[in-house]
Amino acid sequence: MSTKLSALLCVVAAAATGVLAAPNCPPLGPVFEPARNFNGSAAIRAALANLTETLGARDVDNGPGVRANETSYSLEVFTTDEANPLLFSWHHTAPTLAKMSGNGTVGVQRTDANTVYRLGSLTKIHTIFTWLAEDGDAKWNEPITKYVPELAAAAKKAKDDPVANVAWDEITIGALASQMGGPIRDYGVLGEVTQQLNQSTMVGIGFPPLNSSDPTLPKCGIHPLCNRTEFFNGLLQAYPQYAPFTTPAYTNTGFQILAYALESITGKSFESTMNDRVLKPLGLKHTYLSNAPASEGIIPGSREDASWDFQLGDEDPAGNLYSSVGDISALGRAILRSTILPPSLTRRWLKPAALSSEPNAGVGYPWGVRRIRLAEANGKRMVDSFNKAGRIGYYSSLMTLLPDYGVGFSILIAGPNIPGNTNFNLADILGPQLLPALETAAREEAQARYGGVYANPSTNSSLRLTTQPDRPGLGIENWISNGTDMQTISVVLAAGYQGVDPSIRLYPTGLETVRPDGSKRVAYKAVYEDLNVPAKPDSMFSTDCGTWVSFTSVTYGTHALDQFIFEVGKDGQVKSLECLALRNPMSKT
Ligand SMILES: *[C@@H]1O[C@H](CO)[C@@H](O)[C@H](O)[C@H]1NC(C)=O
Ligand SMILES: *[C@@H]1O[C@H](CO)[C@@H](O)[C@H](O)[C@H]1NC(C)=O
Ligand SMILES: *[C@@H]1O[C@H](CO)[C@@H](O)[C@H](O)[C@H]1NC(C)=O
Ligand SMILES: *[C@@H]1O[C@H](CO)[C@@H](O)[C@H](O)[C@H]1NC(C)=O
Ligand SMILES: *[C@@H]1O[C@H](CO)[C@@H](O)[C@H](O)[C@H]1NC(C)=O
Ligand SMILES: *[C@@H]1O[C@H](CO)[C@@H](O)[C@H](O)[C@H]1NC(C)=O
Ligand SMILES: *[C@@H]1O[C@H](CO)[C@@H](O)[C@H](O)[C@H]1NC(C)=O
Ligand SMILES: *[C@@H]1O[C@H](CO)[C@@H](O)[C@H](O)[C@H]1NC(C)=O
Ligand SMILES: *[C@@H]1O[C@H](CO)[C@@H](O)[C@H](O)[C@H]1NC(C)=O
Repeated sequence: MSTKLSALLCVVAAAATGVLAAPNCPPLGPVFEPARNFNGSAAIRAALANLTETLGARDVDNGPGVRANETSYSLEVFTTDEANPLLFSWHHTAPTLAKMSGNGTVGVQRTDANTVYRLGSLTKIHTIFTWLAEDGDAKWNEPITKYVPELAAAAKKAKDDPVANVAWDEITIGALASQMGGPIRDYGVLGEVTQQLNQSTMVGIGFPPLNSSDPTLPKCGIHPLCNRTEFFNGLLQAYPQYAPFTTPAYTNTGFQILAYALESITGKSFESTMNDRVLKPLGLKHTYLSNAPASEGIIPGSREDASWDFQLGDEDPAGNLYSSVGDISALGRAILRSTILPPSLTRRWLKPAALSSEPNAGVGYPWGVRRIRLAEANGKRMVDSFNKAGRIGYYSSLMTLLPDYGVGFSILIAGPNIPGNTNFNLADILGPQLLPALETAAREEAQARYGGVYANPSTNSSLRLTTQPDRPGLGIENWISNGTDMQTISVVLAAGYQGVDPSIRLYPTGLETVRPDGSKRVAYKAVYEDLNVPAKPDSMFSTDCGTWVSFTSVTYGTHALDQFIFEVGKDGQVKSLECLALRNPMSKT
């Protein structure tokens, strides 16, 4: 190290200071603290004005992807900021709703934040939230067989014949929560053709006849619903899709089984646990696991055609819920703010459990994870979003969480012929307006709060913090420490700088120590980069963005050269900044 170090230090004299060129590689996560002064941001005001115009026009001209002439929808953009919990809302009632809903005899005639829609699979988030609120995730690596005895008996058969039998003792609770268990998608209820079409029709289109005594022919499903015994008898006839932890494979049965497991842990019905742990504590008065009152609902057709009354029975935890956008937003805020779960558990929950075959997507518990590149902010700035969509009958839904911004979308849709992707089409309208605006607003607030010169004249130490529209994080410039050019030395030490583009930028870590008087210490991480290294976008193994590997690679007396602490007064004003390794706080001037 010392030879390398002294060799590097020799380079310093020869190096010229250049203009920043290549993109920075920020750490995963927010590059600024989330914006809070939404009203004061011109970028957000412009985004919201654009959304108002865009959605208004679509609702009238029946634009593609939404079919607003016969589709009603409610959407909200919510935030974790208590002063501004709602950033944007939009409610569209299809002009044909009254006619479709029996001329106003069924359900509400105008949709608003409290209108009840069906959710379909968005229910799965409520189910996992209920589990986490009740029991945490300590059991998530335990086999499901420990809590569901019917499956324990079956697991042995998979040892001899893994093609035909599910290895239930290898499927963990976390595997079911993250769609990594691999059992059959549904039993009897959804997708089982014999529950929907008669035998002669099926034989007519090429399927073989099934003997009515064939045990694989479900005797229950939609009509009548299977009870627990029938469900397991049927489920154990089904081949696995995959061995556990092979590939994400969507399964509704997993959530029914999880609810049985939770019932065995709590000794209470799943419904009462959901009520006690989630719906009541959050005051979700327009959310129902089953049989919601039609008077609160939007029902664009007969109750039967819309599937308003259709119940999934024991499969309710996979997709039966009814809720309003106001309640979905309240749920999303509670997740992002960790009002029920400990913050470390929330952070663990809002991470992918597996990759998928799509490079910018992954699978969580059971989030769909979408990785969004923010080109405007910087070529390598990635915003991860955690989504859950659903569809049932005449309804479609989507909740999107953006932890980097403390912001989310709630989207609920009702209509007889909803184009399949309407929920994501609406998110595709919101996201491209809002994400860049949220990033800009956060950057402008960071500039206002932290930007400026920090100095300790008694030690001849100073630096300037600035932001730039095309750069992530807070840039450090002109850093002198104790009379020394620390701007160059630090990049030499931390990044082996030898070129012409040294870069130092600070990113929030989320670590804060708040004192009783409200003053606080706020920790930021610096990324030291030599931007004059060749980009390697097409290399098979080499990377040009591996920031996480080199954190804290230089310490001086244990303290990191890349750890910076802001001191913030009880008045909220930033007082000083200290690089931990240098032990030399500089006051904001
Ligand atoms: C921001 O504007 C909204 C809508 O005009 C208002 O409801 C809210 O109170 C304002 N928030 C702040 C913090 O001024
Ligand atoms: C909204 O923004 C998009 C993308 O920048 C732009 O194409 C569109 O014209 C804008 N619409 C309105 C009504 O401002
Ligand atoms: C709504 O618009 C679509 C496409 O433009 C059309 O096919 C459909 O018939 C319209 N529905 C009603 C109820 O007018
Ligand atoms: C609604 O009213 C119209 C006009 O009065 C009538 O033709 C139609 O049959 C009614 N529809 C229903 C579902 O009651
Ligand atoms: C099967 O269903 C078809 C289509 O609904 C119907 O025409 C036919 O009569 C049914 N056959 C029997 C045997 O029920
Ligand atoms: C159906 O299965 C039963 C019992 O195995 C058998 O007795 C019967 O002959 C079968 N019926 C047909 C039509 O194959
Ligand atoms: C489930 O239904 C079957 C009839 O299909 C019945 O024999 C059994 O007792 C039921 N089990 C439970 C737990 O209700
Ligand atoms: C500054 O450097 C001098 C030696 O040149 C040293 O005595 C002093 O302790 C240093 N102060 C700080 C704050 O690093
Ligand atoms: C502080 O250090 C810088 C960089 O070494 C030097 O140019 C400057 O003259 C010093 N200022 C004082 C007041 O010593």
